[in-house]
Amino acid sequence: MDFRFDVVGVGALNFDSIAPVSAAARNLLRGAVDWGAECRVGAATVDAAMRTVHAAAVRVAVGGSAYNTVAALAHTGAGLRLGYVGVAGRLPVPGAPILERLHRLGVDTEHLRVSAGELSGVCLSLVEDGERTLLVHPGANDRMAEHLESRFDEVVAYLSAARIVHVTSFLDARTPAVLADVLAAVRDRSPETVLSFDPGHVWAASRSAPVAALAAMADHVLLNERELQALGTTGDDTWAADRILRVGRPGRFVHVKRPAGVTTFTRSGPLLRARFHPQQFLTADLVLDATGAGDVYAAGVLAAVAEGTHLHDGVRLGMALARHKLQHLADGGHSDFPAVLAAWHERATPDRS
Ligand SMILES: Nc1ncnc2c1ncn2[C@@H]1O[C@H](COP(=O)(O)OP(=O)(O)OP(=O)(O)O)[C@@H](O)[C@H]1O
Ligand SMILES: [Mg+2]
Repeated sequence: MDFRFDVVGVGALNFDSIAPVSAAARNLLRGAVDWGAECRVGAATVDAAMRTVHAAAVRVAVGGSAYNTVAALAHTGAGLRLGYVGVAGRLPVPGAPILERLHRLGVDTEHLRVSAGELSGVCLSLVEDGERTLLVHPGANDRMAEHLESRFDEVVAYLSAARIVHVTSFLDARTPAVLADVLAAVRDRSPETVLSFDPGHVWAASRSAPVAALAAMADHVLLNERELQALGTTGDDTWAADRILRVGRPGRFVHVKRPAGVTTFTRSGPLLRARFHPQQFLTADLVLDATGAGDVYAAGVLAAVAEGTHLHDGVRLGMALARHKLQHLADGGHSDFPAVLAAWHERATPDRS
């Protein structure tokens, strides 16, 4: 099968920033937010809050789980053909729009909807004495269900032309069901397309039928420990992974990510096989920025799947890239990814030369 794309990402797009709480922000938000918690806020509040903190922001970046993975894949320099399906709004600060950022990364945007009159998704993390208040504004991401419904057949055709489709969450109530329909149609049309699913904590804990349907369809379900417990419902790892893998087609994998390594689970007939892939974990003093490390792990796994490499080697590449990312702020270390990939190639295919 000749695919047009190696990996297409589908997920919410957010403008992420982290800043210390300023006196102006405190005044502005007094009575409007629950300090220390995650709060959904409207466009006017988030716009005003961004203005109070922008100069002090310590980290500002376009993000979103699938975006992070696709950007990391672009940085590997492996020449992968990439695409993105989502809804981009206006950024709350000056700078290149999301569409342009994706183009610079070489990512196709035929089915990226640009909703220029609307604020993009924003996640502003206000930090004070180690306490973090998250202001989350879903913004243009809330148009995803409508976007998928209005171009259902075109998006199904687009995703069916990808070797791998990597799906991450949206926060509105309607998108999970529409996305599950889209991916079921992709599965029918292109059984060889590999579906990868990183639900994140909100979807993993949602107990929603469409999220369960997405997990049941996925060939790779990527979870950390908390997400495994939330999605698999209580019990030990094996029990939780078994619940996820009991349905769906054969050869599906659950990846459980921990600092000490990743455990992959798969079913072989009635048996659940588990394999632990250990790694040297980084001590706290070496970890500079953990946000998005799981998304970089996904990029490593998917780069290896795209190459047709054994999954165990893919897990090693994912962990190597994630370890590298953890030691840099935002995507500050991504320019080294080609070197990480080259080192991995030497070990993954020793008899290549
Ligand atoms: N101390 C550590 N040393 C080495 N690897 C680590 C360490 N902590 C985490 N990792 C790796 O980093 C990745 C973190 O993934 P995880 O899914 O837990 O991230 P997350 O909190 O969901 O982040 P995000 O969703 O923002 O990417 C995993 O691959 C894990 O193995
Ligand atoms: Mg994650």
